[in-house]
Amino acid sequence: MKDMLNIALPKGRLGERVYNMFAKAGFECPALLENSRKLIFENEEAGVRYFWVKPSDVAIYVERGAADIGVCGKDILLEYSPNVYELLDLNTGKCKMAVAAKKGFRDDTEKTLKVATKFSNIARAHYASFGRDIDIIHLNGSIEIAPILGLSDVIVDIVETGTTLKENDLEVIETVVPISARLIANKASFKFKGSDIERLKNHIAEQIKE
Ligand code: PRP
Repeated sequence: MKDMLNIALPKGRLGERVYNMFAKAGFECPALLENSRKLIFENEEAGVRYFWVKPSDVAIYVERGAADIGVCGKDILLEYSPNVYELLDLNTGKCKMAVAAKKGFRDDTEKTLKVATKFSNIARAHYASFGRDIDIIHLNGSIEIAPILGLSDVIVDIVETGTTLKENDLEVIETVVPISARLIANKASFKFKGSDIERLKNHIAEQIKE
């Protein structure tokens, strides 16, 4: 029996879009899109076993080898620096990491800036790059509320359409880094299943829209 490639996909809209790229590349597994609660699917013929995991957990599965490859956002790679190979920018799931604040906000550089975020490491590195003194307030979601309630001066968060900011009277002050989905691989898998992973990567690369 040939070795299966274990692939962790981010559950949700991005994951479905990415699966379609994999399917077109010859690694289909139609049961995956059936509306069920099942989390693991395989197509022995194509040599692939897919599983749906929480987007922020994909890199954990790949780093520890429970998945050979996976797809996750550049935000996760920057924030957690998992020990994996980044093989390909899939040019989908595009958004940006940005600093945002209440409309009309002016930064008083005499004071420590209070920054609310889920991405503490990214925020810290960003402000350290120009020596701004900050106080990080780590939150787990609904970050946009923080400046409204005076919990923070600014937020560092993902902006996709900008709707969340707009509906909460916030605006982007600066872009920290552009984000998109990346194909990642476990380092040992890349050694032992290297040719299968390379083949998949090359077929996927042909699907990427510029
Ligand atoms: C992200 C982000 C923003 C929102 C931005 O949240 O934290 O809240 O999307 O998207 P928009 O610019 O299109 O409005 P997500 O839905 O990933 O979940 P979260 O609440 O866990 O942060």
